[in-house]
Amino acid sequence: MKPMEIAKGIYWLGVIDWNIRDFHGYSTYEGSTYNSFLIMDEKITLIDAVKKEFADELIANISQIVDPKKIDYVISNHTEMDHSGGLPRVMHKIGEDKPLYCSKMGQKNLASHFPQKWNYQPVENGGELSLGNRTLTFLETRMLHWPDSMFSYVKEDRLLFSSDAFGQHYAGLERFDDQIGDAIMPHARKYFANILLLYSPLILKLVDKVTEMGLPIDMICPDHGILWRKDPSKIINAYVEWSNQKPKRKALVIYDTMWHSTGTMGEVIVDALGEEGVDARLMHLRNWHRSDIMTEVLDAGAIIVGSPTLNNGLFPTVSDFLTYMKGLKPLNKVGAAFGSFGWSGEAAKLVTKELEEMKFDIIDPGVRVQYVPDDKGLDACRELAAKIAQALPAE
Ligand code: FEO
Repeated sequence: MKPMEIAKGIYWLGVIDWNIRDFHGYSTYEGSTYNSFLIMDEKITLIDAVKKEFADELIANISQIVDPKKIDYVISNHTEMDHSGGLPRVMHKIGEDKPLYCSKMGQKNLASHFPQKWNYQPVENGGELSLGNRTLTFLETRMLHWPDSMFSYVKEDRLLFSSDAFGQHYAGLERFDDQIGDAIMPHARKYFANILLLYSPLILKLVDKVTEMGLPIDMICPDHGILWRKDPSKIINAYVEWSNQKPKRKALVIYDTMWHSTGTMGEVIVDALGEEGVDARLMHLRNWHRSDIMTEVLDAGAIIVGSPTLNNGLFPTVSDFLTYMKGLKPLNKVGAAFGSFGWSGEAAKLVTKELEEMKFDIIDPGVRVQYVPDDKGLDACRELAAKIAQALPAE
C-alpha cells in the first residue's frame, strides 16, 4: 500500500499483513498491520520499523517519499520483532551509523536481538529531540508491554506515536477511526484482552500521569491497525473502562469433554444461569480459540471451567486455556469448576486450584460426576449455577 500523509509532513509508511492468522498464539482472523512513520523535517526521522519479511516493502515505501540515505534519525519505540525485525535491512539502507533513539532498556534489548553495533542514543523519560521545526518528546511506558516500550510525542502536531498501545490486529484499507467507525472496537478490545490485560493497573496509572501532564492529543498513531484522529479520547476511555475490569452479570462456561458428560453438565449450568438472568455462554475449547475466549473473559463476572479427568489430570485443552488465562491475570472474577471422571476424578480439583491461584473468588468446591451425570449430578450443576448467579452483580 502507498504511503499516506497523515499530518503535514508526516507519513504513514506501514505494511499490511493480510494473511497472518496466528500472532504468537493470538488468532488474527482479519490479519494485521505494522505501522511505521516518517517525519519530513530538517532532520528526517523514521519512527519504528516492521516485521522482517516486510522490510523491503517498508524501504520501497520510504523511497516513494525520500531517498532512505537522507533519513537522519531512527526511533525505536519497542523492541518486539514485529517492529524491529526489519531494522537490520532498513538500517543497512539508511546508514548503519545513523543515530538510533530508544529507551535505555530498548538499547539493551535491541542489542540482545541484533549483533550490529548501531549508533544507539538512549533517551530518558521526558527527554526531547529537536527535528528542526518539531520536537519529539519521549515518554517511557515500561512494561506496557515490554521493559523497553516508550511513546514518542510531537507537541507541534499534538500527535502521539503510541507503539503497541491503542493498537488492533486488523488488515484493511482504512487508516483512520472515522473511516471504519465502531467496527474497529471489537479488534481493539481483543487486542487489549490478549496483550495488555495483565498491565491494567499500570495503564490506569499511565492515563492518570498523561492527564496530569495535560498533553493535548489530536491523533494517536499506534503501531498496529487504524489511527485515532476523529476522537482519540474514545480509545483512551475504552482503555480506562477495560482496565477497571468491572464485572458484569455475565458468566462463561468454558469446557472440553470426552464422551459428552462434562458437556452435558456445562449445558445444564448455562441453562440454569440463563434462568437466573445471567448472560451465560457455553464455550467449547475445541470450537473457540483461546484468544477469543479471553476477549469475553474481559467483562465476565464468572468463569466456570469444566474438564473431564484424563489420565489423572486435566484435559489438554483445559490446561492450555488455564495457562493462557493465568498469564493475563484477569481481576474481579467468581470462579468454579466441574467435570466428569471415571475412577480417579482429579480434574475439577485441579481446575479449582488453578482458579484459586488466579485469585478468583471460589464459590464452590466444584461439581464432580462419575461417568455420566444422573439427576442428582444435574441438580448439583443447577445448584452451582444458582450460587454463581447469587454471587454476580445485579444488572
Ligand atoms: Fe506489536 Fe509488542 O509488538
